[in-house]
Amino acid sequence: MLSVLTGQARVAGYDGKVTDAPQTDQPAHTAPVLSTDQVGPHPDLTEIVQHHQSHPWRKPCPTHTRDAFEQLLKRLPRDNRPLILDSFCGTGMSTALIAEAHPDALVVGIDQSTHRLEKHQATGAQNYLLLRAEVEPFWLCLVEAGVTLHSHWLLYPNPWPKTSQFKRRVHGHGAFPVLSRLGGALELRTNWEIYAQEFAQATGLIGIHGQTASFTPNTPMTLFEQKYWDRGQTLWRFRGKCVV
Ligand SMILES: C[S@@+](CC[C@H](N)C(=O)[O-])C[C@H]1O[C@@H](n2cnc3c(N)ncnc32)[C@H](O)[C@@H]1O
Repeated sequence: MLSVLTGQARVAGYDGKVTDAPQTDQPAHTAPVLSTDQVGPHPDLTEIVQHHQSHPWRKPCPTHTRDAFEQLLKRLPRDNRPLILDSFCGTGMSTALIAEAHPDALVVGIDQSTHRLEKHQATGAQNYLLLRAEVEPFWLCLVEAGVTLHSHWLLYPNPWPKTSQFKRRVHGHGAFPVLSRLGGALELRTNWEIYAQEFAQATGLIGIHGQTASFTPNTPMTLFEQKYWDRGQTLWRFRGKCVV
């Protein structure tokens, strides 16, 4: 396995032997970000994304996701504010922070994990809600109902770091082309540079135009961001706009 950060597969220890693992504790800034067999963007990325574009994704909507969507639909007619989505929101820390920063918007955090959502620490903000749902069918529900977004946050989705797991990444998933139909501004954050590069390449194929850059968070927006930052890792973000 390669270290993404150091690019070294093997490490020389104090005893002079070359081993697969470090023989001393590594300082935080040289610890590997994650373990992957990829050294660059996935070679089949373009082919896979184009295939997903020409074969629209369909999957029966899970009951909990349909229920969550109905909950939002009930609220929308009396809540004529711009809609912001925080997909993969985890404990909803970012959802609450985005709501505080956008008091004129309704912010919806989506995560499939009840366990994570139950750990949410409520803030004073009244303009957000957290829903347990699968994000991909939830996106499709929004598109089919003609609901568009002011903006969409994808903060530290699971990286699925093995090459063979590419189709489980957001941009390798069959539902990926749905993203561009949601409209609005889009921001993805990750601690894995290759993931950010792939995301930028893939979004370009579905009509979302933007750029990737490393950044320093003023205040961490999520627990994962806090963890990666504390470990001295470089953080990456893609910022773009859907052209619908
Ligand atoms: C790495 S965590 C990041 C959580 C949060 N954004 C943060 O930065 O702290 C990824 C989250 O995505 C959620 N998740 C993964 N796949 C999902 C899916 N298909 N639909 C909804 N949530 C999903 C997991 O439950 C988990 O909370």
